[in-house]
Amino acid sequence: MTQRAIRAPAMTFHGDPFLVPAGEALRHWPDALMRIEDGRIASIEDAEEGLKRLPAGVPVTHYEDALICPGFIDAHVHYPQTQMIGAFGAELLEWLERYTFVAEQDFADAGHARDVAARFLRELLRAGTTTASVYCTVHPQSVDALFEESERFNTRMIAGKVLMDRNAPNALLDTAERGYAESKALIGKWHGRGRQLYCITPRFAPSSSEEQLQAAGKLWREHPGTYMQTHLCENQGEIEWVRQLFPERSSYLDVYDHAGLTGPRAIFGHAVHMDEEDFACCHRTGSALAHCPTSNLFLGSGLFRMVDAKRIERPVRVGLGTDIGAGTSFSQLQSLGEAYKVAKLGGHALTPEQGFYLATRGGAEALRLDDRIGSLAPGFEADFVVLDLKATPLLDFRLSHARDLAETLFVLMTLGDDRAIRATYVAGECVYERDRPESFLYPG
Ligand code: GUN
Ligand code: FE
Repeated sequence: MTQRAIRAPAMTFHGDPFLVPAGEALRHWPDALMRIEDGRIASIEDAEEGLKRLPAGVPVTHYEDALICPGFIDAHVHYPQTQMIGAFGAELLEWLERYTFVAEQDFADAGHARDVAARFLRELLRAGTTTASVYCTVHPQSVDALFEESERFNTRMIAGKVLMDRNAPNALLDTAERGYAESKALIGKWHGRGRQLYCITPRFAPSSSEEQLQAAGKLWREHPGTYMQTHLCENQGEIEWVRQLFPERSSYLDVYDHAGLTGPRAIFGHAVHMDEEDFACCHRTGSALAHCPTSNLFLGSGLFRMVDAKRIERPVRVGLGTDIGAGTSFSQLQSLGEAYKVAKLGGHALTPEQGFYLATRGGAEALRLDDRIGSLAPGFEADFVVLDLKATPLLDFRLSHARDLAETLFVLMTLGDDRAIRATYVAGECVYERDRPESFLYPG
């Protein structure tokens, strides 16, 4: 039994600050002692009490000028697009053709996939992200590469092979049958192995035939506990194309619903242009949305309506996605800064509590993992991040004028980025430490 303890200020959520007052949703310890046992949180309490109860010989790591929070959760990200972040000038459909579908063809090469997967995992950890829902490419070896690297760090990745059987270059197409068979084999190999979870991943309605969407729905029903992710209502041109391709369906979301692709563990990326019926369908079916602010701004896709998603009479589960490489940063702190601006342009303000909730417990609720990750509480898996409140001279100076925790969190959303991540812990092990020469460590 390995035991350790961490002493530092800490914060976590046990409720949704979109639905209850922030004070009820948030828990803050100005000086916490968190005891970790076999990768899980054994206790978290005020340090004064905790130190009295701490068994002799348990090592304590004390972080000063720090704030501990649950590891960030990225609800929508494409690891193969790490190599094409910042592709100039295009909107979604042209961007896919000109940049994305070119880059993804490189992943036919397993060695390339392993190289990018290794870089990707390190960027996640450098940003304090310990769980992500990840799109691979159409190539099964791209999935193996990601899960193999994730297994080394013991991170929890939810990932799958992209399904697409039309409207993309031939080299990136599978068929309804082959996509089904390859995904099924990958589920058998990876779903539930260690912390890895499989996500059935039809890219989006325009690149899958009705037959492929139906096959994806069948596969998902046949494997309870697996996930389903796709894109939804991101861009006007895309939505119009879906209308032409599926004239018999009442909406974009209805295309997925009709194929059995809504429900718990369904994650729809973007959801920028949604109407009341769409949100109501997500609420009714328990489907989740991934808000991807940096991507939606970068591609000019539009402004996500968080206030509509979170309407109190029919709240929808929402996580925060970077959507690398249409998104422009791995840092969920930067995503939150942009989410705030998106909300402001929509006439609202995202509170700091709502922001940090989205990046942690909100993501866990969207991914149906909120009994295991996303909070600092006894029994939870010890995935957490140590934020450095003196990471830069500006952050240090600005935070010296912060009056309370809410202001501190809001300044972190506004000025924070990967420099503010001092350390990242995965299942109780420190796998990234910013100031150590060899920053990344495989546990054990
Ligand atoms: N829609 C279909 N594929 C993609 C993708 O790779 N990125 C984004 N942002 N939208 C998509
Ligand atoms: Fe995406």
